[in-house]
Amino acid sequence: MSARVTGGTALLVKNGRVIDPANGVDAVQDVLVESNTITQMDPKLPAPEGAEIVDATGKIVCPGFIDIHVHLREPGYEYKETVATGTRAAAAGGFTAVCCMANTDPVNDNRSVTDYILARARSEGVVRVHPIGAVTRGLRGEELAELAELAEAGCVAFSDDGKPVMNASLYRHAMEYVLPFGVPVISHAEDAHLTRGTSMNEGVVSTELGLDGAPAAAEDVMVARDILLAELTGAHIHIAHLSTAGAVRLVRDGKSRGVHVTAEVTPHHLVLTEDAVREYDPNTKMSPPLRTKRDTEALVEGLVDGTIDCIATDHAPHALSEKEGEFDHAAFGIVGLETAVAVLLDRLVRPGWIPLSTLVARMSSDPARLLNLPGGRLTAGAPADITILDLDAEHVVEPARFRSRSRNTPFGGWRLRGAPWMTIVGGSVVSR
Ligand code: DOR
Ligand code: ZN
Repeated sequence: MSARVTGGTALLVKNGRVIDPANGVDAVQDVLVESNTITQMDPKLPAPEGAEIVDATGKIVCPGFIDIHVHLREPGYEYKETVATGTRAAAAGGFTAVCCMANTDPVNDNRSVTDYILARARSEGVVRVHPIGAVTRGLRGEELAELAELAEAGCVAFSDDGKPVMNASLYRHAMEYVLPFGVPVISHAEDAHLTRGTSMNEGVVSTELGLDGAPAAAEDVMVARDILLAELTGAHIHIAHLSTAGAVRLVRDGKSRGVHVTAEVTPHHLVLTEDAVREYDPNTKMSPPLRTKRDTEALVEGLVDGTIDCIATDHAPHALSEKEGEFDHAAFGIVGLETAVAVLLDRLVRPGWIPLSTLVARMSSDPARLLNLPGGRLTAGAPADITILDLDAEHVVEPARFRSRSRNTPFGGWRLRGAPWMTIVGGSVVSR
């Protein structure tokens, strides 16, 4: 669970604008870190002897960002990503913790795989790693995985992400089973019959391009089903990567009726539409697909009003050989850890679509709350996980320089203003 933490010396982050949504703080403050822990926060703190001083004047000091939807690919697909490269990508992108999905090989459906991932995280990781266990054995959707032992081993949620669980009865039983563990089931909401053979959103663009499209309804029917099952069981259902206006409406309605439903959205579904597919770039292919302007507007609105609880990248690394060639044969998914913060600062915060403090909350305190993770707030006594942003830093996205082992991004060449500036995990600077 824990990162490579050296600890020891004190660290004083001086003069930054601290935005700590969970504590209602937005003010210039110094933050003192001692023995991996935040010990004091005050407008002016003296530096203890020997302390490393970080001058954060003009920077934004936030609780460490947490990405609850990442594919680290280890074990089994180390040619796409490993715990070592994925957590370095996370650190470079401003994240201090990630939750990793279960679609590895072998699948994380029993505790030996969870133990393995956590051991790799301890020896190779530079940010915190929280595994997510599979709902069904082998992600086959036929019988439940070893849910109790997965929870005991440290899985913070359950998901067959990458695949929907089409059997509603089995999903209902999973929800009932995990209820006492107090952790959510995370739904990859996709009706597999409606999406079979498709590679993008169904609409004008898919017709023009001659590609088979998946209707928004393929997502909406499953979001509706899962909310109804959460209502039936009392379980916490978390909907992954919301992409349609209809899904936003369904989550909003579910929340207003008191159902324990939460949701996330990715940066790419917030800032890109199906129009990006026109160049047949396989780096615009993911599941769920990019939708329409109407959908992105609903997603932004839902993120601002709290219908959507958090932002998660769905970092899905694939090798070049899997992402070149014909669009309809390419793998689904794009990397996101190293572009998320900059894309969101430049395209949503700078133009005023989302307040900065809302973005910070949706990337730190909100994900921590959803999965009961440590962190998410800057409080004396809390682990010193800190993300510092520079709103003025300008750069051009260069996939060749990613720490990730994979390069499959649609944002290559984008000029962005605003970026993560420093990432601190347990008091250790893991990226600067
Ligand atoms: O595009 C995607 N890629 N969506 C998923 O749900 C899974 C992911 C992957 O594992 O590559
Ligand atoms: Zn998914």
